[in-house]
Amino acid sequence: MTLRVAEHSKDRDRQLAQIRQSLGTRSVVLIGLMGAGKTAVGRRLANWLDLPFTDADSEIEQAAGQSIKEIFAEHGERYFRDGERKVIARLLESGPQVLATGGGAYMNPQTRAAIEAGGISIWLKAELRVLMKRVGRRDNRPLLAVDDPETVMKELMAERNPVYTKADITVESREVPHEVIVGNVVDALAAKLGCDAMPAPRARRKKVH
Ligand code: S3P
Repeated sequence: MTLRVAEHSKDRDRQLAQIRQSLGTRSVVLIGLMGAGKTAVGRRLANWLDLPFTDADSEIEQAAGQSIKEIFAEHGERYFRDGERKVIARLLESGPQVLATGGGAYMNPQTRAAIEAGGISIWLKAELRVLMKRVGRRDNRPLLAVDDPETVMKELMAERNPVYTKADITVESREVPHEVIVGNVVDALAAKLGCDAMPAPRARRKKVH
């Protein structure tokens, strides 16, 4: 998918340049459950920041020459997790970039440490209803290929959300256009990195008759 370069105000452009500079070689790493919007938001965020976008799951598939579904079916989850850890460690060496990770990646303590060392982590947090609506659109997620995916998702939320809270930044992923979430992420990044905030929109002047 190619994205048109987003057009921003001068203030936003200045802020984005500041963020890029403050990042240095660190990557912006998106974490969160399946359906949180990591890839969709990540691609747009990379476009705003004029940084490369990398999707860890696609990199794992490329390295293995198999889809995630095939990796799980043929080799099992443990094998996938091992590959995931190695691929993310390698990717973090080539920042800056925007890196979207699979939902389970941040649960691995080594991966968490590598993300902390080489990136700024952003948890895209979403409600169960939003996640289920989004994951229902595709059948490429082996963990949800069960009779009752909602129960699995609830269990994953209970297990993972307390760990995701360790992320540097949390942004609510809501049912609004992706660009709105990207704006929220950029604002949060600017605050975290000590860059300029966007000026508040000017109040419209009342006409005096
Ligand atoms: C997984 C999430 C998937 C993928 C794999 C396992 C998980 O990525 O890595 O199916 O454990 O939550 P997305 O979060 O991008 O769907």
